[in-house]
Amino acid sequence: MKGIILAGGSGTRLYPLTMVTSKQLLPVYNKPMIYYPLSTLMLAQIRDILVISTPEDTPRIRQLLGDGSAFGINLSYAVQEKPEGLAQAFLIGKDFIGDEPCAMILGDNIFYGNGLGYKLARASEAAKKGEATIFGYYVEDPERFGVMEFKRTSPKRENAESVKVLGVEEKPKEPKSNYAIVGLYFYPSGVSDMAEQVKPSARGELEITTLNEMYLKEDRLHAQLLGRGFTWLDAGTFYSLRRATNFVCMIEEYQGMTISAPEEIAYRFGWIDDEKLRESAEKYGKSPYGEHLRAVLEGKIVL
Ligand code: TTP
Repeated sequence: MKGIILAGGSGTRLYPLTMVTSKQLLPVYNKPMIYYPLSTLMLAQIRDILVISTPEDTPRIRQLLGDGSAFGINLSYAVQEKPEGLAQAFLIGKDFIGDEPCAMILGDNIFYGNGLGYKLARASEAAKKGEATIFGYYVEDPERFGVMEFKRTSPKRENAESVKVLGVEEKPKEPKSNYAIVGLYFYPSGVSDMAEQVKPSARGELEITTLNEMYLKEDRLHAQLLGRGFTWLDAGTFYSLRRATNFVCMIEEYQGMTISAPEEIAYRFGWIDDEKLRESAEKYGKSPYGEHLRAVLEGKIVL
């Protein structure tokens, strides 16, 4: 299973903040935004990850994350010359993906909730069996997003989050549901070939919604709902960036613990040893992030 973090785009809604830096390197409370989507892919047990960004920002992101060895993973990098749509990631990543299934997450998407790993594992399993998975999240303003129409398939409480997709629409004027399709997608082997068939939309982009429609037509598109126990945030506007910062700050203060630390995830999965975690803790110095890694190392925080 491969993973892509799509972290390019122009970030115009955050001007002037993003005039000389990447949106994905801006702080969400106490860490760079890209740590959150990186943590999410790692929670999905994905260890081969391609980061795609702009010509200017790719070197900066590489400077921050390096080759991935600090996180016990392989990180590689590729450039998207222009933001020509989310589905383009699978063309840029064609060689990287090869014939494996692949997940993609947007660089400004933050996921938090108990049981996330379980949901991701289910999507991974489906991808390995030839099926794509999208995730739906209740929003008040669905017309701003890709939206899914669906029906419940099981009245059973434990399956309540698994639904049958009836349609997907990009920023519809009259949304058929209040469930936005979030920026995390799992695709089976062959996704690059499928993406090659996507034609540019009226706004000139290779839309992920078109790609999802193709899987839907083949009856290979699954959806899981993220319910009340989950938080999904995209941090692309000043409003949502502030909300994301407040959210992470609140969770960390209440729990007294850092969330979305890739080194900690790597350590818990046994991808890095004590020595490597100690090195990272040293690198972060006296910051709360460094202290957190030290607490993990000393066994003070075990879960
Ligand atoms: P958007 O928020 O749709 O676009 P943007 O980041 O360019 O910002 P703005 O609208 O303010 O100009 O993108 C969502 C995420 O996807 C974001 O992390 C950037 C990324 N992205 C790409 O990397 N390449 C693309 O072609 C597109 C459309 C988005």
